Amino acid sequence: MIVSLKKLKSGFSMPVFGFGTWRMGGNHTRNPLKNDHRQITAIRQAIDHGITHIDTAQMYAQGHAEELVGQAIKEFNRKKLFIVSKVWPDHLRFEDVLKSAALSLKRLKTDYLDLYLIHIPNPAIPISQTMKAFDKLKSDGFIKNIGVSNFSVRSFKAAQKVTENKIVVNQVHYNLIYREPEKSGLLEFCQKNDVLLVAWRPVEKGILADYGISVLDGISLKYKKSPAQIALNWLISQKNVVTLAKMENKKHLLENLGALKWQMEKNDIEKLRKGFPGQKIISDAVPLG
Ligand SMILES: NC(=O)c1ccc[n+]([C@@H]2O[C@H](COP(=O)([O-])OP(=O)(O)OC[C@H]3O[C@@H](n4cnc5c(N)ncnc54)[C@H](OP(=O)(O)O)[C@@H]3O)[C@@H](O)[C@H]2O)c1
Repeated sequence: MIVSLKKLKSGFSMPVFGFGTWRMGGNHTRNPLKNDHRQITAIRQAIDHGITHIDTAQMYAQGHAEELVGQAIKEFNRKKLFIVSKVWPDHLRFEDVLKSAALSLKRLKTDYLDLYLIHIPNPAIPISQTMKAFDKLKSDGFIKNIGVSNFSVRSFKAAQKVTENKIVVNQVHYNLIYREPEKSGLLEFCQKNDVLLVAWRPVEKGILADYGISVLDGISLKYKKSPAQIALNWLISQKNVVTLAKMENKKHLLENLGALKWQMEKNDIEKLRKGFPGQKIISDAVPLG
C-alpha cells in the first residue's frame, strides 16, 4: 500500500498516516529490558507495508527511540521516508537547538529531518531565539520543514511572527475523546491558515479500538470497519488533519492501515463529532500551551 499525502496550498505535503515511537526503547528514560530487535522490526515492518512517516523525539527514551529509528531506516531509501523529530522545551535556546538537532541527526544516522518540531512551548525562553535556530537549521539544509507541537493558537502566532519560514505543522492531542483543538479554535485556525494538524494518540492508546460505545459501534457496522479504523478515518477525513499511531504489534499495523483509502460520509463525521460520549475539552496528557 502507498500511504497517500495531504498537501497544503504552500506546497508542503506529508503522509496522512504515520508511525509513532513514544514508549519505544523506554518512556522518559531508556528501559534496558525493552527488546531493541523487536522494536526495530516493528518499524521496518511498518515501512515494508507502506508507512513513510516515522515520528520520534529527542526526549523519547532519552534519545534511544531515535537510535532505534536510525537502526530501522538504514536499509531503506532515505529519500522515500519522512522522518520527524522534536526538541524538548528545556533545549530551546539558540545554541541548544542547534546542538539538539545535530545529536538527533547522529542518533538517526541521517543528514536531514523532513520536519523538526518544538515539542512543547516554553514561555521562559524567548521564542525568537528558538525560531532563529530553526531558520538556521533550515537554511543549512539540516531540516526541510519547521513545525511545532502542543501550541495554542496564541503561541503558534507568536512563533510564526518571528520566523522567516512558514510553520507547516502543529502536532497535538486530538481524537474522538480529546477535543481541545476543536474547542480552542486551533483546528479551525489550521484549516484557515494552511497548516496541517497532526493528531497524536488517535486511538487513545487502544481505548478507541474497543467495541461498546454505541455511536462508534453503529458507524463500524455501517462501514464494516473496526472502531480503531473509524477513529483514524474520522481524523483524516477532516480538512488539514493527518495522524500517526504507535504500532509495535503487526496486527495493529494492518488493522490501522485499513483506515485509509476510503471516505466517511460528512454526516457520519459530524455524528461522531457531536454524539461521541465522554468528550474531554482539555488534554490530560499535554494541554495546549
Ligand atoms: N507531540 C507530543 O507531545 C506527543 C505526545 C504523545 C504522542 N506523540 C506521538 O504520537 C504517536 C501516537 O500516540 P501514542 O503512541 O501516544 O498513542 P496511540 O497511537 O493512540 O496508541 C498506541 C497504543 O495503542 C495500541 N494500538 C495501536 N493501534 C491499535 C489498534 N488498532 N487496536 C488496539 N490497540 C492499538 C498500541 O499497541 P502496540 O504498540 O502494541 O501495537 C500502543 O500500545 C506517539 O507514538 C508519538 O510518536 C506525540
